[in-house]
Amino acid sequence: MSDGAAATRMLLTGVAELVTNDPAPDRDGGPLGIVRDAALLVEDGRIAWVGRALHAQEHLTGGGGPAERADRREAEEHRTLWDADVEIVDVGGGAVIPGFVDSHTHLVFGADRAQEFAARMAGQRYEAGGIRSTVAATRAATDDELRARLAGFVAELHAQGTTTFEVKSGYGLSVSSEERIVRLAREVTDEVTFLGAHVVPAEYADRPEAYVDLVVGEMLDACAPHSRWVDAFCERGAFTPEQSRRVLEAGAAAGLGVRVHGNQLGEGGGVQLAVELGAASVDHCTYLSDADVAALAASDTVATLLPGVEFSTRQPYPDARRLIDAGVTVALASDCNPGSSFTSSLPFCIAVAVRDMGMTPAEALWASTAGGAAALRRTDVGAIRPGVRADLTLLDAPSHVHLAYRPGVPLVARVWKDGAAVA
Ligand code: NIG
Ligand code: FE
Repeated sequence: MSDGAAATRMLLTGVAELVTNDPAPDRDGGPLGIVRDAALLVEDGRIAWVGRALHAQEHLTGGGGPAERADRREAEEHRTLWDADVEIVDVGGGAVIPGFVDSHTHLVFGADRAQEFAARMAGQRYEAGGIRSTVAATRAATDDELRARLAGFVAELHAQGTTTFEVKSGYGLSVSSEERIVRLAREVTDEVTFLGAHVVPAEYADRPEAYVDLVVGEMLDACAPHSRWVDAFCERGAFTPEQSRRVLEAGAAAGLGVRVHGNQLGEGGGVQLAVELGAASVDHCTYLSDADVAALAASDTVATLLPGVEFSTRQPYPDARRLIDAGVTVALASDCNPGSSFTSSLPFCIAVAVRDMGMTPAEALWASTAGGAAALRRTDVGAIRPGVRADLTLLDAPSHVHLAYRPGVPLVARVWKDGAAVA
């Protein structure tokens, strides 16, 4: 298939392991809904059919019912017809998984903070205030510089198997500069989050309430038209639960869905606030009380864990096992940003989550595909079943387990988004 062009019909076959995230009676019984020796048909950018490879021919020739399946001769007669009509891609025994859904990134910014990382690895602590140095660099950058950097990240995400991603603002912190960030983000994704409440900018350092007034007023008015979500960094050094509530309630009143940065650096009130406001997701969840876990378990709010952050800040990892055992829906995301987690790799996050957060390889894969989709309240991505988008990641490995088993190895071989090759 030529890069970027969606074939009208494409049959992927030779799939040793197909992860559908669609448990069905003919599958392996687990939450990943694995089909072995599988094939799948893509039509006009959507999944049209999923099953065992040996049934693909009958399906393509119009069969599907037992009578048609039995009629081998008819299938043979149609063979030349569908050979011409369908592009057949034999993946030669690889695993196919849903494209990763990265529900938390901050990809519009002006410069990296490699020196801050180096200082941290030499013993310095991570603090939310580092965000301000990125704000200065972002304000100084031109639209084209920000766009070029963003395009590079999009290519990086695709190359690592991610097909849906969220992008937050939060490195502008003025009306015009936040508006610019959400507008640029909207050029590359529908999942744009207004995070004017990231930190209080330097010019408002001694009057944080006035900054919150700006965020819930003029800044929200300018950013809401380009955004789907509102977020607030509810944390020591950023915004109190009361200030965060004001921002999130104003965003919700403007028609935005709610997400929260909470419980990253300490217990704080982020999780409780997120649950109370019916947030789609509360992200970080590194420090949780028993009451936080119980509140999440009784809610529809996804707990999104961001292993890249704890890796890059030398914090303790969040306890995914505790959350899953309590019945909480868990997602994994990269939090790609220049301060606390400068990775765009969900395979890396999966490996860390399996090694150090108590997740099984299957749970980590589910969390970075179906879990990410749940965190974005999307039902058209994160799974491989008829009707959903044909967002597919082919691994140069026979099983999804290799994502954690072979850490750091570039296993993503090909990636399709809406049926078109993007990597
Ligand atoms: O998700 N927690 C708040 N924001 C980012 C950190 C951003 C930065 O340090 O620049 C995060 O970790
Ligand atoms: Fe973040």
